[in-house]
Amino acid sequence: MVTIAVTPEEAGETRVALSPETAKKLTALGATVKVASGAGSRSRFSDAAYQTAGATIVANPSEATAGADVLLKVRRPTPEEVKSLKPGALVAAMINPFDDRPGVEALAGAGVSLFSMEFMPRISRAQSMDVLSSQANLAGYKAVVDAAAMFEQAMPMMMTAAGTVPAARVFIMGVGVAGLQAIATARRLGAIVSATDVRPATKEQVASLGAKFIAIEDDEFKQAQTATGYAKPMSEAYQQKQAELVASHIKGQDVVITTALIPGRPAPKLISRAMIESMRPGSIIIDLAAERGGNTELTQPAQIIEHNGVRISGKLNLAGEVPVNASSLYAKNLFTFLELLIDKKEKALKVNWDDEIIKGTLVAKDGKIVHPSLVSQGA
Ligand code: NAI
Repeated sequence: MVTIAVTPEEAGETRVALSPETAKKLTALGATVKVASGAGSRSRFSDAAYQTAGATIVANPSEATAGADVLLKVRRPTPEEVKSLKPGALVAAMINPFDDRPGVEALAGAGVSLFSMEFMPRISRAQSMDVLSSQANLAGYKAVVDAAAMFEQAMPMMMTAAGTVPAARVFIMGVGVAGLQAIATARRLGAIVSATDVRPATKEQVASLGAKFIAIEDDEFKQAQTATGYAKPMSEAYQQKQAELVASHIKGQDVVITTALIPGRPAPKLISRAMIESMRPGSIIIDLAAERGGNTELTQPAQIIEHNGVRISGKLNLAGEVPVNASSLYAKNLFTFLELLIDKKEKALKVNWDDEIIKGTLVAKDGKIVHPSLVSQGA
């Protein structure tokens, strides 16, 4: 029998790692699911809904974790939180592995097998476990909705008897999962949309969504995608050419949504102070890369600032502002991952430590950090 614990997240995190739907699926696999009362409340999942789905509601987090085989979280748990789990228990969360190394080490030291869902390999078998995609998609949507709410003009063109309202111009920088959803959402609102990226594959994707693609398409651009589908850091020379192009384009834009990221590195700075100063007062920038330092020179993580009439939102965790969907999708990602770890016949944990998905996501085991991208960092 596998016991799975779910506890509330830290203050400010609206999401939860279990939905009533996944509680039902996990109990159907023969697992006992213990949920600390109120864990789902910020995602509108009531204790009663979990109970109906077959979960057991316990009064507090420590009752949920006591003796459990698995702990499911959205954010990295504290060493304190995992100490009452069964020795060698599994913990799956978005642990933010490159941030706060001592924190990751302390958690590893607790002896749990720690899985970082952000490290999910981008292979087709793992698509339904890809938390970065499920959350980035919602963040891309919410970024445009936020921008539309902040913008003091309409997004679509309107032809009325009193005159014509022009369509807003929206520029999306970085066309990964978040950027693609931002393009689609801005198009649905009737904006004139353009987008840029350094990966050539994005050109066709942008066009197919009805937006205009703008980029420096030189030889370096043709090789900017890694084997794992991510962008490479670009050379100084490329960045210079890209900056000139962006500078001439951005001054005519009303809304800019930036999403550009390079795994394990600070976000590339794509918008300078001078570019922001060239924009019209009332323009809006939503910087989805704020958590990694931001794509603009002026972004302040977790804040909305105004510079020369241009407002720049560095809000973090936009997916968490659509918590009902974000939790449902995240919980589904975790469920598909857990299916891999549970032997359905024996109704017990059975981990194939050689599986590409397990090896790819395992950060720590038996008290030590084991993930290749983190082992070298700490040495
Ligand atoms: P991400 O969040 O790491 O980066 C966002 C975007 O920023 C990327 O498109 C990247 O090319 C772009 N970028 C980086 N540096 C830039 C720069 N200097 N200027 C302009 N743009 C820049 O990427 P995300 O959203 O995680 O997606 C990366 C790729 O992975 C995509 O090709 C996506 O389709 C693919 N993918 C594959 C999956 C699978 O096969 N299971 C699942 C999800 C995504």
